[in-house]
Amino acid sequence: MKRIAILISGGGSNMVALVRSMTGDHPGRPVLVLSNDPEAGGLKKAAEMGIATAAIDHRPFRGDRAAFEAALLEPLLAAGPDIICLAGFMRILTPAFIARFEGRMLNIHPSLLPKYPGLHTHQRALDAGDTEAGCTTHEVTQDLDAGPILGQARVPILPGDTADTLAARVLVQEHILYPATLRRFAAGDRSPIFLP
Ligand code: GRF
Repeated sequence: MKRIAILISGGGSNMVALVRSMTGDHPGRPVLVLSNDPEAGGLKKAAEMGIATAAIDHRPFRGDRAAFEAALLEPLLAAGPDIICLAGFMRILTPAFIARFEGRMLNIHPSLLPKYPGLHTHQRALDAGDTEAGCTTHEVTQDLDAGPILGQARVPILPGDTADTLAARVLVQEHILYPATLRRFAAGDRSPIFLP
Protein backbone atom coordinates (compact mmCIF):
# COMPACT_ATOMS: atom_id res chain seq x y z
CA MET A 1 0.00 0.00 0.00
CA LYS A 2 1.49 3.35 -1.04
CA ARG A 3 1.44 6.22 1.48
CA ILE A 4 0.15 9.40 -0.22
CA ALA A 5 0.82 12.94 1.07
CA ILE A 6 -1.17 15.78 -0.52
CA LEU A 7 0.01 19.40 -0.52
CA ILE A 8 -2.58 22.17 -0.82
CA SER A 9 -2.81 25.95 -0.57
CA GLY A 10 -6.56 26.59 -0.78
CA GLY A 11 -9.94 24.91 -0.98
CA GLY A 12 -8.45 21.52 -1.81
CA SER A 13 -11.15 20.26 -4.17
CA ASN A 14 -8.56 18.11 -5.95
CA MET A 15 -7.37 16.79 -2.56
CA VAL A 16 -10.96 15.82 -1.70
CA ALA A 17 -11.31 13.96 -5.00
CA LEU A 18 -8.01 12.15 -4.42
CA VAL A 19 -8.89 11.17 -0.83
CA ARG A 20 -12.33 9.93 -1.84
CA SER A 21 -10.80 7.79 -4.59
CA MET A 22 -8.40 5.94 -2.26
CA THR A 23 -10.66 3.12 -1.11
CA GLY A 24 -11.09 -0.59 -1.72
CA ASP A 25 -8.46 -2.07 -4.04
CA HIS A 26 -6.83 1.32 -4.73
CA PRO A 27 -3.08 0.84 -4.12
CA GLY A 28 -2.75 4.13 -2.20
CA ARG A 29 -4.01 5.64 1.04
CA PRO A 30 -3.79 9.28 2.20
CA VAL A 31 -1.44 9.77 5.17
CA LEU A 32 -1.18 13.58 5.34
CA VAL A 33 -2.70 16.77 3.96
CA LEU A 34 -0.17 19.59 4.31
CA SER A 35 -0.62 23.28 3.52
CA ASN A 36 1.48 26.45 3.37
CA ASP A 37 -1.57 28.32 4.66
CA PRO A 38 -2.96 27.47 8.13
CA GLU A 39 -6.30 28.97 6.96
CA ALA A 40 -6.56 26.80 3.84
CA GLY A 41 -10.14 25.57 3.56
CA GLY A 42 -8.91 22.14 2.49
CA LEU A 43 -7.39 21.48 5.92
CA LYS A 44 -10.84 21.43 7.52
CA LYS A 45 -12.19 19.19 4.76
CA ALA A 46 -9.28 16.77 5.24
CA ALA A 47 -9.77 16.68 9.03
CA GLU A 48 -13.50 15.99 8.49
CA MET A 49 -12.49 13.01 6.33
CA GLY A 50 -10.24 11.76 9.14
CA ILE A 51 -6.94 12.56 7.42
CA ALA A 52 -3.97 13.89 9.43
CA THR A 53 -3.23 17.51 8.59
CA ALA A 54 -0.41 20.00 9.13
CA ALA A 55 0.30 23.56 8.06
CA ILE A 56 3.51 25.55 7.80
CA ASP A 57 2.75 29.21 7.15
CA HIS A 58 5.20 30.36 4.47
CA ARG A 59 4.84 34.07 5.29
CA PRO A 60 7.16 34.27 8.35
CA PHE A 61 9.97 32.92 6.14
CA ARG A 62 9.81 36.07 3.98
CA GLY A 63 10.90 34.43 0.76
CA ASP A 64 13.62 32.26 2.30
CA ARG A 65 12.44 29.23 0.36
CA ALA A 66 15.05 26.85 1.80
CA ALA A 67 14.06 27.70 5.39
CA PHE A 68 10.36 27.32 4.60
CA GLU A 69 10.98 23.96 2.95
CA ALA A 70 13.10 22.77 5.90
CA ALA A 71 10.07 23.45 8.12
CA LEU A 72 7.70 21.83 5.59
CA LEU A 73 9.84 18.68 5.48
CA GLU A 74 9.37 18.01 9.20
CA PRO A 75 5.69 16.94 9.16
CA LEU A 76 6.06 15.66 5.59
CA LEU A 77 8.90 13.23 6.31
CA ALA A 78 7.27 12.24 9.61
CA ALA A 79 4.33 10.92 7.56
CA GLY A 80 6.69 8.72 5.55
CA PRO A 81 5.10 9.32 2.14
CA ASP A 82 5.82 7.13 -0.87
CA ILE A 83 4.16 9.59 -3.26
CA ILE A 84 3.50 13.33 -2.97
CA CYS A 85 0.58 14.94 -4.80
CA LEU A 86 0.64 18.72 -5.28
CA ALA A 87 -3.01 19.74 -5.53
CA GLY A 88 -3.61 23.44 -5.83
CA PHE A 89 -0.26 24.00 -4.09
CA MET A 90 0.80 27.51 -5.02
CA ARG A 91 4.41 27.74 -3.81
CA ILE A 92 7.35 27.19 -6.14
CA LEU A 93 9.61 24.45 -4.76
CA THR A 94 13.41 24.62 -4.90
CA PRO A 95 15.43 22.14 -6.98
CA ALA A 96 16.77 20.63 -3.72
CA PHE A 97 13.27 19.87 -2.44
CA ILE A 98 12.18 18.47 -5.82
CA ALA A 99 15.32 16.33 -6.05
CA ARG A 100 14.32 14.61 -2.79
CA PHE A 101 11.05 13.43 -4.31
CA GLU A 102 11.75 13.38 -8.04
CA GLY A 103 10.03 10.44 -9.70
CA ARG A 104 7.38 10.26 -6.96
CA MET A 105 5.89 13.77 -6.88
CA LEU A 106 2.86 14.62 -9.04
CA ASN A 107 1.05 17.83 -9.92
CA ILE A 108 -2.09 18.90 -11.73
CA HIS A 109 -2.00 21.99 -13.90
CA PRO A 110 -5.10 23.63 -15.38
CA SER A 111 -3.98 23.76 -19.02
CA LEU A 112 -3.08 21.40 -21.86
CA LEU A 113 0.68 21.49 -21.25
CA PRO A 114 3.02 22.41 -22.80
CA LYS A 115 0.59 25.27 -23.53
CA TYR A 116 0.24 27.89 -20.77
CA PRO A 117 2.61 26.90 -17.97
CA GLY A 118 2.34 29.27 -15.00
CA LEU A 119 -0.70 31.25 -13.96
CA HIS A 120 -3.96 32.60 -15.47
CA THR A 121 -4.14 29.65 -17.86
CA HIS A 122 -7.84 29.95 -18.71
CA GLN A 123 -7.73 33.66 -19.55
CA ARG A 124 -4.69 33.03 -21.75
CA ALA A 125 -6.51 30.27 -23.65
CA LEU A 126 -9.50 32.58 -24.15
CA ASP A 127 -7.29 35.48 -25.25
CA ALA A 128 -5.57 33.18 -27.75
CA GLY A 129 -8.92 32.22 -29.25
CA ASP A 130 -8.39 28.54 -28.47
CA THR A 131 -11.35 26.24 -29.11
CA GLU A 132 -10.40 23.78 -26.38
CA ALA A 133 -8.75 23.80 -22.97
CA GLY A 134 -8.16 21.30 -20.20
CA CYS A 135 -5.83 20.03 -17.51
CA THR A 136 -2.66 18.01 -17.27
CA THR A 137 -1.21 15.71 -14.63
CA HIS A 138 2.54 15.37 -14.69
CA GLU A 139 5.59 14.35 -12.70
CA VAL A 140 7.22 17.32 -10.94
CA THR A 141 10.73 18.04 -12.13
CA GLN A 142 13.12 21.00 -11.86
CA ASP A 143 11.36 22.78 -14.73
CA LEU A 144 8.09 24.40 -13.60
CA ASP A 145 4.99 22.73 -15.09
CA ALA A 146 7.12 20.73 -17.52
CA GLY A 147 7.68 17.20 -16.19
CA PRO A 148 6.68 13.95 -17.98
CA ILE A 149 2.96 14.08 -18.74
CA LEU A 150 0.88 11.43 -16.95
CA GLY A 151 -2.53 12.50 -18.22
CA GLN A 152 -4.62 15.10 -19.97
CA ALA A 153 -8.34 15.90 -20.10
CA ARG A 154 -9.80 18.19 -22.76
CA VAL A 155 -12.91 20.40 -22.64
CA PRO A 156 -14.42 22.61 -25.34
CA ILE A 157 -14.23 26.38 -25.04
CA LEU A 158 -17.76 27.64 -25.66
CA PRO A 159 -18.98 31.01 -26.98
CA GLY A 160 -19.38 33.43 -24.10
CA ASP A 161 -16.99 31.54 -21.85
CA THR A 162 -15.20 33.55 -19.21
CA ALA A 163 -12.12 32.43 -17.25
CA ASP A 164 -14.50 31.45 -14.45
CA THR A 165 -16.91 29.38 -16.58
CA LEU A 166 -13.97 27.68 -18.29
CA ALA A 167 -12.20 27.03 -14.97
CA ALA A 168 -15.34 25.39 -13.60
CA ARG A 169 -15.62 23.12 -16.66
CA VAL A 170 -11.94 22.14 -16.39
CA LEU A 171 -12.16 21.55 -12.63
CA VAL A 172 -14.77 18.83 -13.18
CA GLN A 173 -12.24 17.03 -15.36
CA GLU A 174 -9.42 17.60 -12.87
CA HIS A 175 -11.42 15.66 -10.29
CA ILE A 176 -11.60 12.73 -12.71
CA LEU A 177 -8.08 12.91 -14.18
CA TYR A 178 -6.05 13.31 -10.99
CA PRO A 179 -7.57 10.30 -9.15
CA ALA A 180 -7.22 8.18 -12.31
CA THR A 181 -3.59 9.30 -12.65
CA LEU A 182 -2.76 8.57 -9.00
CA ARG A 183 -4.34 5.12 -9.09
CA ARG A 184 -2.29 4.16 -12.13
CA PHE A 185 0.93 5.78 -10.84
CA ALA A 186 0.61 4.14 -7.39
CA ALA A 187 0.29 0.77 -9.17
CA GLY A 188 3.63 1.48 -10.87
CA ASP A 189 2.16 2.31 -14.28
CA ARG A 190 3.39 5.60 -15.77
CA SER A 191 1.59 5.28 -19.09
CA PRO A 192 -0.36 8.50 -19.75
CA ILE A 193 -4.16 8.79 -19.58
CA PHE A 194 -6.05 10.88 -22.16
CA LEU A 195 -9.67 11.90 -21.54
CA PRO A 196 -12.22 11.85 -23.01
C1 GRF B 1 -7.30 24.28 -9.67
O1 GRF B 1 -7.61 25.04 -10.81
C2 GRF B 1 -6.10 23.43 -9.98
O2 GRF B 1 -5.97 23.16 -11.36
C3 GRF B 1 -4.96 24.29 -9.56
O3 GRF B 1 -5.41 24.97 -8.40
C4 GRF B 1 -6.84 25.21 -8.55
C5 GRF B 1 -7.55 24.99 -7.24
O4 GRF B 1 -7.40 23.63 -6.92
N1 GRF B 1 -3.82 23.45 -9.31
P1 GRF B 1 -8.08 23.02 -5.56
O5 GRF B 1 -9.56 23.28 -5.66
O6 GRF B 1 -7.47 23.75 -4.39
O7 GRF B 1 -7.74 21.57 -5.64
